[in-house]
Amino acid sequence: MKRLNIKRIAINTGGGDAPGLNAVIRSVVVSSVNRGWECYGIRDGYNGLLEPKKYPEGGLIPLPRSKVRGITHLGGTILGTTNKGNPLKWPAKGKGGKLIEIDRSDELIKAFRKNKIDALVAIGGDGSLGIANVLSQKGLCVVGVPKTIDNDLDKTVITFGFDTAVSFATACIDRLHSTAEAHQRIMVVEVMGRYAGWIALECGVSGTADAILIPEIPYDIHKVARKMEERWKCGANFSIVVVAEGAKPKGGTCSVVSKEIGRAEKLGGAGERVAKELQEMTGKETRCVVLGHLLRGGTPTTFDRLISLRFGAAAVRALSEGQSGIMVALDPPTVRYIPLIEATNRMKTVPTDCDIIMTARDLGICFGE
Ligand code: F6P
Repeated sequence: MKRLNIKRIAINTGGGDAPGLNAVIRSVVVSSVNRGWECYGIRDGYNGLLEPKKYPEGGLIPLPRSKVRGITHLGGTILGTTNKGNPLKWPAKGKGGKLIEIDRSDELIKAFRKNKIDALVAIGGDGSLGIANVLSQKGLCVVGVPKTIDNDLDKTVITFGFDTAVSFATACIDRLHSTAEAHQRIMVVEVMGRYAGWIALECGVSGTADAILIPEIPYDIHKVARKMEERWKCGANFSIVVVAEGAKPKGGTCSVVSKEIGRAEKLGGAGERVAKELQEMTGKETRCVVLGHLLRGGTPTTFDRLISLRFGAAAVRALSEGQSGIMVALDPPTVRYIPLIEATNRMKTVPTDCDIIMTARDLGICFGE
């Protein structure tokens, strides 16, 4: 492995924000500064390099030690992020003004060279790390850090951000129990997670939901309604149903709000759909609560802070060892390096025979099967 003589690195945060991003940034900066490297942050994904004129204060900002002081516990990202700035699928006007997607990755590589950046730490989910993989294949030295509240990245036991999202969702379900019982209602809670049901499953089991609907197990709403009715018959006059935003009925599709050029499809409405049908079928008053972006905000849990700091330091160690084209991954008790291509090859969805699903079934939680 050829060791690079690194002098200057860049960090970027791409896709939806997740609690722990600032902890990773701090860890990368401090570990780099301690090696005598200079750090720069790219604003809003890659926009700071691709659209520098939009940033009068600079699209590439210096990150000295002082800039990352006191940020470990803060949500969001001091660099900004976007899920509209994919350099491989950049929205542009084609013939006749039609919106098309163009590939600006060569331009981006040139921008890195022009700014004398020797290596990049790309912090992102499947989309962002897919982009990082292409940049690495085009010759840029890149190390990825697995971020997403959805926990749908392969080859790492967990992504940072997930624990905070699930802990908050569980706390919300705890609160919904008392109001559901007081009003004798069905409370439907919709949580994020895209096409993977990790958040719904883990907060649903921990929050003792009565039904959990996840994308991996298409549901039959009649079975869910029957479960609610059985509860009423045995004296439990309320129910909690957790619905993943990507949940879909058997033979149906998930609820999509919009599909735009240059960005991932926007999901929404799954909870409302389930709530409406349950109210019609059971005659019980039903309310839907969408937790949405609340899951992405706030202070990272201790677990997320620690893995974020570990991932950041491991990314810098990887670069100093001459690694590139890899992602740091949690494989307890250690952090390993995984080829970026392996991490982004497939989405990590919930295996329907996993222990958490078996536990849920043993506890009588309904999946609408
Ligand atoms: O990937 C993280 C995530 O929060 C998903 O759970 C959700 O579907 C999506 O991002 C929402 O994205 P946006 O911020 O564009 O609404």
